[in-house]
Amino acid sequence: MRGKLVAGNWKMNGNLASNQALLQALIPAISPIAGVKYAVCAPFPYLGQVQQLLRGSCIEWGAQDLCQFDHGAYTGGVSAAMLADFNCRYAIVGHSERRSVFGETDEIVALKFAAAIQAGLTPILCVGESLSERESGVTEAVVARQINAVMVHSGVAALGRAVVAYEPVWAIGTGKTATPEQARAVHAFIRRSVAARDEAIAAALPILYGGSVKAANAAQLFSIPDIDGGLIGGASLNAEEFIAICRCAQPAA
Ligand code: PGA
Repeated sequence: MRGKLVAGNWKMNGNLASNQALLQALIPAISPIAGVKYAVCAPFPYLGQVQQLLRGSCIEWGAQDLCQFDHGAYTGGVSAAMLADFNCRYAIVGHSERRSVFGETDEIVALKFAAAIQAGLTPILCVGESLSERESGVTEAVVARQINAVMVHSGVAALGRAVVAYEPVWAIGTGKTATPEQARAVHAFIRRSVAARDEAIAAALPILYGGSVKAANAAQLFSIPDIDGGLIGGASLNAEEFIAICRCAQPAA
């Protein structure tokens, strides 16, 4: 059985004081429940702080990106091994902001995904279409291209150690959420695309939804069969919102 995962993506937000306040609010409020995982993905400089504060809690942590190379003369790069050194469990790869603002291609994303897997991290591979792509009817083609780049490079088996996040670009930070039907359709498509190569890997693959998830819409989204939790941007910076979203991933008592 696939469990659920709620992962916060802090993006380039926070500081030592606000991170501490946020985590100290989350830790006592989020309790371990079988089949549900929680994580926060923090900016690189704060990974040590996050590790110290979250150690021993049921909230895991990760990074928002990593360098595709192992080590060496890559000024500004942060390797998968460095993230593993801070006991990161996750690394987001291919977030749409990395693709559009920093020019990351499918090929670079595939290399980053492979680097994360090799270091024993769980990559959270983000895929999703822009508004113009949706309007021109190529959503499935775009998502298939993004997933295939990784499957061709690392093999479908690598998805057995990964998480996929479907994040329609037009829903990120805009307050516009995909309708349950739009999300359901793309999640099912992603699972079918992976199943075409390996049914067991597809059945076990956690596929998160991301894009303006908040406490008010999380329960409905998480109840959709192919949606296995969420990747939460803006709402993960607010303790009350994030706690409420985490609770929506828990099975009804
Ligand atoms: P959002 O961001 O929840 O602020 O829309 C989601 C993401 O970009 O991961």
